[in-house]
Amino acid sequence: MTFTAVFLTAILMPATEPSAAQAATHLSLGMNSCTASACHGGSVAAAGKQREWNSSYTVWATKDPHADAYAVLFGDRSQRIVARLVFPEKVDPQKNPKEYRSFLEKRCATCHATIGEGRPSSDGFAEDGVSCASCHGVAGEWLGDKHAGRKSGQMKVTQQLAPRAKVCVVCHVGSPAHNGEPAREVNHDLIAAGHPRLNFEFSAYLNSLPAHWDVEKDRNRVRQPEGVKKAQANFAAETWLTGQFVAADAAFELLAARAKADGGTDKEHAWPEFSEISCYSCHHELRSQSYRQKLFHRETPANRRSPIGSLVWGTWYSPMPRQALLLQSAGAANDEDSWHQLELAMSAIHPDSKKVLSLTTALRPKLTPPANPLQTVERLVKNLSALRGDWDEVAQWYLATTAWHQALREEHMESQKNGDPVKSGEREAALRESQSTLEKIRGQLESPLEFDPTGEAFQDAVKLLLQQLAKLEG
Ligand code: HEC
Ligand code: HEC
Ligand code: HEC
Ligand code: HEC
Repeated sequence: MTFTAVFLTAILMPATEPSAAQAATHLSLGMNSCTASACHGGSVAAAGKQREWNSSYTVWATKDPHADAYAVLFGDRSQRIVARLVFPEKVDPQKNPKEYRSFLEKRCATCHATIGEGRPSSDGFAEDGVSCASCHGVAGEWLGDKHAGRKSGQMKVTQQLAPRAKVCVVCHVGSPAHNGEPAREVNHDLIAAGHPRLNFEFSAYLNSLPAHWDVEKDRNRVRQPEGVKKAQANFAAETWLTGQFVAADAAFELLAARAKADGGTDKEHAWPEFSEISCYSCHHELRSQSYRQKLFHRETPANRRSPIGSLVWGTWYSPMPRQALLLQSAGAANDEDSWHQLELAMSAIHPDSKKVLSLTTALRPKLTPPANPLQTVERLVKNLSALRGDWDEVAQWYLATTAWHQALREEHMESQKNGDPVKSGEREAALRESQSTLEKIRGQLESPLEFDPTGEAFQDAVKLLLQQLAKLEG
């Protein structure tokens, strides 16, 4: 399946740099309000430490994948996607540029450009792609006084992790129409037409964006939030845990809206929406000794099992928050029961939309992350056997493990400052060894088709990794 390749490159490789010519087009379009060299358009080389605010535009235009988000809609892949969604002759960008653009505005530009921020894309801003205003809010009202902008709420809050993740999930998970914002969805129609599946995980995505901000200042903000001394604060763990809960909430909000519409009256909505269901429920090899039979329908504990032959829901956004809440307290049993009811409801060929709506609505307020991120991520990493474990769930576990590894490295750096050099050397070696085992596991996740979570190769690598990580603790 091609989307895996896209997913893995998306989160594991550095963002590619657009050509100079592409960067130049962006420079010539719109955004004049943010880009003067005295404001955010200073050169990267000139901007030393503490001066990231001055070069943020330059970093974005030359390195950030968002700068190309609109241009991508005119490329071959997009033309093929659009042609599969509508009659090809209607949307040929050369023969019918107006129709092509108007289709893009309706179905694509909501995420690939800065629109729906109180202005239409046709005012010439769309070409900027996902620009400053998409993440920071429209500058018009507060330009020249960003402090007033922050106070009035027109400037979005990105300093703290939860509101920052909320900015991303609108496009990276999807969102229903509300407060004058358009709906943003990559549904199964788009995926079947060739759009990559959205597999968002906040910490991996944030890490792979070229930062146009002061990274050190950002980390310190989390380590020691204003006024509170937080002995346990750890940027990697906190980013991962926050992202898990914000993304799950966004996925639930979207599911609730889909259930409420129950298919609706237009052709663009379907109930059930296939992209909610594990892709491997429908797309897989047909053989009678598959790990899915064991893990989802037979050998899994009764309270997490669904009937054999039924669809499997909730494999990407749910597993980690669900386990985190369960590990946190015994009192979570009621919520766990609702979660399982939702899973069962969604496993039906035609799910009861009223039931799904009421269960998602009841569960959303429970989606608050446990107070100790570092301990939570550690327990989840060690508890792989609690997951049912198809490719999605294991990929999420892998991302959690990567975050934990980074968290341990962060702790190591801190302790190095005044620690014993021999112990420090041992930890450094253990970090390297476990990194290499992590890379082996990533290799096994390359193709969901060949991935077998019950296979010896995978089980052995996990065992080794956990032993190596245990050496790092204490
Ligand atoms: C819900 C928001 C959303 C909508 C609507 C949307 N996209 Fe996307 N699109 C994304 C995101 C997010 C990515 C990046 C995916 C990733 O790598 O995680 C993406 C990636 C892509 C890519 C791959 C880009 C690359 O660099 O390889 C193409 C092509 C694309 N979209 C085209 C389209 C087209 C055409 C439409 C309309 C028919 C559309 N998109 C609608 C959010 C959206
Ligand atoms: C994909 C979302 C996104 C886009 C697009 C984006 N930013 Fe940012 N920006 C962030 C995040 C996240 C931070 C870090 C948190 C913070 O400082 O608020 C940030 C920080 C900043 C900072 C503070 C830098 C510092 O260290 O003090 C400035 C200034 C800034 N952005 C300007 C811009 C400008 C100008 C553009 C358009 C050229 C832009 N941003 C586009 C997400 C984005
Ligand atoms: C307005 C919608 C929108 C918002 C808000 C947004 N993104 Fe994106 N993002 C996109 C689209 C569309 C793409 C695909 C662009 C392309 O391939 O040209 C993308 C691509 C990316 C990529 C590259 C993925 C790849 O396949 O290489 C990363 C990383 C990313 N976004 C992270 C973030 C983070 C982190 C935030 C929040 C701070 C954020 N984005 C906010 C729409 C958005
Ligand atoms: C409930 C069953 C179901 C689920 C779940 C499902 N699909 Fe599909 N998918 C289909 C059907 C049916 C088709 C149309 C097959 C055809 O026309 O040959 C299809 C077509 C596709 C296609 C076009 C290629 C082709 O063979 O037609 C892609 C790509 C695709 N799906 C990807 C996905 C991804 C990725 C997911 C998970 C996000 C997913 N599907 C979830 C049933 C499903």
